[in-house]
Amino acid sequence: MYVRHLQVTDFRSWPHADLALEPGSTVLIGANGQGKTNLVEAIGYVATLGSHRVATDAPLVRDGASRAVVRAAVVNSGRELLVELEITPGKANRARINRGAVGRPRDVLGILRIVLFAPEDLAIVRGDPGERRRFLDDLLVARAPRFAGVRADYDRVLKQRSALLKSAGAARRSGGSADLRTLEVWDGHLARLGAELLAGRLDLVAAIAPHVTSAYASVAATEEATLPSGRVAHVRYRSSLGDALPEDYGVPQGPPADPAELEKALLTELERVRPQEIERGVSLVGPHRDDLELLLGELPAKGYASHGESWSFVLALRLASYHLLTEDGAEPVLILDDVFAELDRHRRARLAELVAGAEQVLVTAAVPEDVPPELTGARFDVCEGEVSRVR
Ligand SMILES: Nc1ncnc2c1ncn2[C@@H]1O[C@H](COP(=O)(O)OP(=O)(O)OP(=O)(O)O)[C@@H](O)[C@H]1O
Ligand SMILES: [Mg+2]
Repeated sequence: MYVRHLQVTDFRSWPHADLALEPGSTVLIGANGQGKTNLVEAIGYVATLGSHRVATDAPLVRDGASRAVVRAAVVNSGRELLVELEITPGKANRARINRGAVGRPRDVLGILRIVLFAPEDLAIVRGDPGERRRFLDDLLVARAPRFAGVRADYDRVLKQRSALLKSAGAARRSGGSADLRTLEVWDGHLARLGAELLAGRLDLVAAIAPHVTSAYASVAATEEATLPSGRVAHVRYRSSLGDALPEDYGVPQGPPADPAELEKALLTELERVRPQEIERGVSLVGPHRDDLELLLGELPAKGYASHGESWSFVLALRLASYHLLTEDGAEPVLILDDVFAELDRHRRARLAELVAGAEQVLVTAAVPEDVPPELTGARFDVCEGEVSRVR
């Protein structure tokens, strides 16, 4: 698929911007702070209803304006859809498809699929488990938009249950008794939604694992034909269920994860840890406590991998996402936001080679020299609130 047209109003630094885009590679060039990332962030918003840089909508609306509008015409297998989003912080956002209102913004998920590479991605390797969970969940939603609802419901239940645990703990400490019946109701919700999310993640990890290994080998490849075994990349899901998780779940060629079975395991585990949960006032079991282990050979990438290896891992995760989504039947748009400046010459060249054949690649860079020759397609200069096509 590709984005044929992007229009924004009062989005970030842009009062207005209008870009006619084409398949193939397009480069946005401009000095720091001119608004290049803001433009690709707008495209990202159409795909994910979120930003890769901030967790809330408020910073996306131009300072002084009350709402932002993003419009994107997306072409998929010859069929074009116009997606329009109105972002109004503090109120419900609105969405339209082909000028017709839709029930809720979530209905646009799935129309545009992207894989975005950004400097912030290094946190997937180096940061807290939350970063890796977000990587998984974002990809899960990109593959199957219904998981946006599952994830939102799970977060809501988790919040309520954790609040209840806190008050139960406080009640117990002051000599009262905890309201266990209400807690049991929330256990049920947590287990049901948690099992669904967990099953989705496990199946996703099983599907993406071989792609990560091969993408890492392609990025890191040197003149030697194969990587030494200590430098082979793997991913592995680590669940707060521990041994209660069936061993062949989340493993390539394993059976699909059964949500009913996971729900039962979660309930059992919740019962077991209940005293600790009340004591500490936190939910100790569920997908919000899990992690995606990134391994180089036998060692975790986090804390062990070099800077260059960490970047190779990041690129491998993004490339693997691209291959997986393509395999699913809709080739996503690739967005490379200022990543070439982060990479050494070898990784730059490898990445350029690996993405040059994609249906659409959008690249941002401060200077044209940062963009490898394989990707010099159309070029826009971004300067002082203007974006102009120069090639
Ligand atoms: N809500 C907003 N309202 C007005 N201006 C904003 C808003 N959000 C961000 N900006 C401005 O946008 C600019 C940053 O834009 P952007 O991140 O797109 O730059 P860039 O061209 O990608 O730069 P770099 O090359 O450094 O990555 C900053 O000057 C910032 O002040
Ligand atoms: Mg930028």
